[in-house]
Amino acid sequence: MRGVILAGGLGKRLYPLTRVSNKHLLPVYNKPMIYYPIDALVEAGIRDILIVTGGNHAGEFLRLLGNGHQFGLKHLNYTYQEGEGGIAAALLLAEHFADGEKIVVILGDNIIEKDIRKEVTDFKKQPKGAKILIKEVEDPGRFGVVTLRDKKIVSIDEKPKDPKSNYIVTGIYMYDNQVFDIIKELKPSSRNELEITDVNNKYLKTGELTYDIFDGWWSDSGTFDSLLRANNLIAERERNR
Ligand code: G1P
Repeated sequence: MRGVILAGGLGKRLYPLTRVSNKHLLPVYNKPMIYYPIDALVEAGIRDILIVTGGNHAGEFLRLLGNGHQFGLKHLNYTYQEGEGGIAAALLLAEHFADGEKIVVILGDNIIEKDIRKEVTDFKKQPKGAKILIKEVEDPGRFGVVTLRDKKIVSIDEKPKDPKSNYIVTGIYMYDNQVFDIIKELKPSSRNELEITDVNNKYLKTGELTYDIFDGWWSDSGTFDSLLRANNLIAERERNR
């Protein structure tokens, strides 16, 4: 299985922090943000990793990460997203890299406490389709919100005004190779992006979407408050090591 880290975008919600840097290069306690998703993939046993970046600071990723030796990797792959087309548009750039294999996708601003080894192993055994990791949070409205009935997902709504539950889709997704054909058929959303939630809903419709409830803390870090929270969670973990 191969790993894809999505680290593009302009990070506008963090202006002015991201005016002269890429969000994923900002510090989260003692490391640049991008280190955490790389660690998450490496700890799950994934060695083939593609970083999708964009904007004006893409070259800094190479200077910082090189070939990934500090993560025990022999090589890292990079690709460049021109403009801003949303998460699903960024993922489409990984089609060539995936080369028919299943992929684990992680948003570059997602920080997790525990490893995802078990979830990745389970998905390897899943004959086809997709798997998402979900989590209960206090502020579901700013995420993709999952409605469950009898432990089955019945719907996923992107940033709904009135969330129907507190379960949200984290930025960790696993897909088979159908994902690229699905993305190619998507229509842009009202915010003019190709939404990853639309991709997940396609798999839900065909009955090929499984999920796990993520155990351990999880945070994104795309807003001032969530960035602060991610810093505090990592700081506490490091102090207790
Ligand atoms: C994105 C997805 C959303 C998901 C979230 C997880 O939101 O669109 O469904 O819950 O990542 O981090 P964004 O961070 O682009 O607002």
